[in-house]
Amino acid sequence: MTNNHDNLPVAEPIADPGHPEHHWRPTDVDDKAEKRAERQVSTFFVLSMISAVAFCVAYFTIEPEDTFMGLGAMNVALGLALGFAMLFIGIGVIQWARKLMGDQEISELRHSAASSEEDREATLAALAQGLEESGIARRPMIRNTLLGALALAGVPLIVGLRDLGPLPGKKLEKTIWRAGTRIVNDVTGRWIRPSDLEVGQLVNAEPEGLVENLDPRTNPEDLEARGVEVLHGHELIAEKAKSAVILVRIEPKDLSEATDNWGHEGILCYSKICTHMGCPIALWEQQTHHLLCPCHQSTFDLADKGRVVFGPATRALPQLPIEVDRDGFLAARSGFLEPVGPSYWERNAPSYWKDREPK
Ligand code: FES
Repeated sequence: MTNNHDNLPVAEPIADPGHPEHHWRPTDVDDKAEKRAERQVSTFFVLSMISAVAFCVAYFTIEPEDTFMGLGAMNVALGLALGFAMLFIGIGVIQWARKLMGDQEISELRHSAASSEEDREATLAALAQGLEESGIARRPMIRNTLLGALALAGVPLIVGLRDLGPLPGKKLEKTIWRAGTRIVNDVTGRWIRPSDLEVGQLVNAEPEGLVENLDPRTNPEDLEARGVEVLHGHELIAEKAKSAVILVRIEPKDLSEATDNWGHEGILCYSKICTHMGCPIALWEQQTHHLLCPCHQSTFDLADKGRVVFGPATRALPQLPIEVDRDGFLAARSGFLEPVGPSYWERNAPSYWKDREPK
């Protein structure tokens, strides 16, 4: 046969090759082989359950500092146990499909995207047939062990949540700031006098009592008399993270009355921890009195109680009430009257909003 225009041969349609001959598997024709395959598949699911239980046992019994061939023993054990739990489920499912599920090939003609009522019914029938051929209804041992394996495979993930650590409880509510705690420059480690700050200046600071930043003039007896506890190690790191503050000096005439009342001659002290997601803030716009968080651009007005003027933060920056102590240094008049930093579920309890004036 040729093409009318240029005498090229016209391609013949490819003949439908049909399906290859179907070979029955031993499990299709031999009841014993079928039962044997069923037990094999269930064995893999049981092995998966054992691996998941082994994960939990390893998690609770191996010490984090134990080693195995130079590696962390706990990590090796958890990795292997979880890996085997998943692997055995995978092998079991593959064996089930290869040996027990129906393996006859079928042809289906293409049709329009929208299914007719008959097609839907045919699909449901095919689905039911598939379920029937998979034997899930007839093989309760496989079904039950698979369900058990899948259920236990999730347990290691739940157990792993314990690594998020204990709930913080009341630890987020308080800092070591209390009445009389002196404010220390976090670079020089020295107490700060009002005369150290000029109008428009911002200083990063922290509470005295952090061992790495004790003012060189510190007298241990005086420290004790003022009730200041010196922190080391983990406690020091935790306090450093949540007690950081900034000191700014603004013309008193530019301050709202409530802001001025908690400061000293225009010197104000605010938490340095953003109330959005906890970034440390220190981008200071002297002219507008705005403090900008570099993470998501929340902007706080330090001349007006740390009010949010822009960005995703929803709470004002907590202000620390300050005064000048008998030795002429800037010190807290009380601790923060609300928890610093980002919100958390328990944070907005009404009790935080009582007694909002320093004693
Ligand atoms: S952490 Fe400050 S704006 Fe998001």
